[in-house]
Amino acid sequence: MNKVIFSGVQPSGNLHLGNYLGALKNWVALQNEYQCVFCVVDYHAITVKQEPKILREKILEIAKLYLAAGINPETAVIFQQSRVSAHTELAWILNTITKIAELERMTQFKDKAREHKENINLGLFDYPVLMAADILLYDTDLVPVGDDQTQHVELTRVLARRFNQQFAEVFKIPEPYIQKQGARIMGLDNPAKKMSKSAGSELNYIALLDKPETARKKIMKAVTDSGSDIKFDPKNKPAISNLLIIYSLLAEASVKELEARYNGRGPAYASATAGKYGEFKRDLAEVAAKFLEDFQQKYNSFDDKFIEDVLEKGKIRAEAIAEETLKKVKKAVGLA
Ligand code: TYM
Repeated sequence: MNKVIFSGVQPSGNLHLGNYLGALKNWVALQNEYQCVFCVVDYHAITVKQEPKILREKILEIAKLYLAAGINPETAVIFQQSRVSAHTELAWILNTITKIAELERMTQFKDKAREHKENINLGLFDYPVLMAADILLYDTDLVPVGDDQTQHVELTRVLARRFNQQFAEVFKIPEPYIQKQGARIMGLDNPAKKMSKSAGSELNYIALLDKPETARKKIMKAVTDSGSDIKFDPKNKPAISNLLIIYSLLAEASVKELEARYNGRGPAYASATAGKYGEFKRDLAEVAAKFLEDFQQKYNSFDDKFIEDVLEKGKIRAEAIAEETLKKVKKAVGLA
């Protein structure tokens, strides 16, 4: 039996290169070795205010982005979280073994509470428990995510172990899968903070649906560090190191190779508009624009009807697995 991967993306904001390089690209790389279950986590998205009409569109958009990234809908289960009621049912049961103090420690909750002071709701607080339910319903072995989700996967492991101990051995204990490179892509306008869908400025991120021309401009405007070497040194050169990682992952060239290619060329190739890192940025802008062109061509080849179909089939497959687990959980707890 194949081992299982589970992961998900929220249908909120614009999916960006950080999401792609930190998560989706790894899903694609792993998809032939694992049974894959990929969820559009809409119940997670509504923990911050969403415009209903836009939310509905974003749900289809995310599923389409999964396919454009290269997920094979014939083999992977792709589905919308809110269509499978086992997620919220299991979350409720897990709530009863989760300590409030454990949720108070979650850094994402603290960050989001700071960002959305006017709407610090119970769902936002409980978000990691729903995420644990997502993962545990599918006997998941591996959870490929960016490093901002590590703490949530750790909590999932704690809850699974606690449940197994308190009731019966129902849950498999999942492992996070976090790549060394790309697990935390930083903002183009501020390399001290991660690239984020909810960033204040559009110059922070390159959206997967940005026009290639827009992406080019964003890269040319990306902040750089002092000096002129193209060198991977996250501590002293956080901006260039971030651009090197993006370049490396998009062009499938190692950081070492890129350093060697550009070494010493910064000042000599300086242009008045692009500054001393000019040539490096121009090349990266080209790589990113070409990536987006190909990506979007694929994205546009799927119509909404096809995506609806994928989600409906996915729901049926997901539900069958999830209901099986939920049945065991209910039995273990004494509910059935
Ligand atoms: P979300 O929707 O915020 O992000 C989707 C994925 O993208 C990764 N990511 C990044 N990776 C690298 N650099 C960045 N700057 C960057 N920003 C985001 C995230 O780590 C994530 O892997 N809670 C999850 C969604 C979720 C989930 C799950 C994931 C709900 N249930 C079960 C896995 C398993 C989230 O908010 O992701």
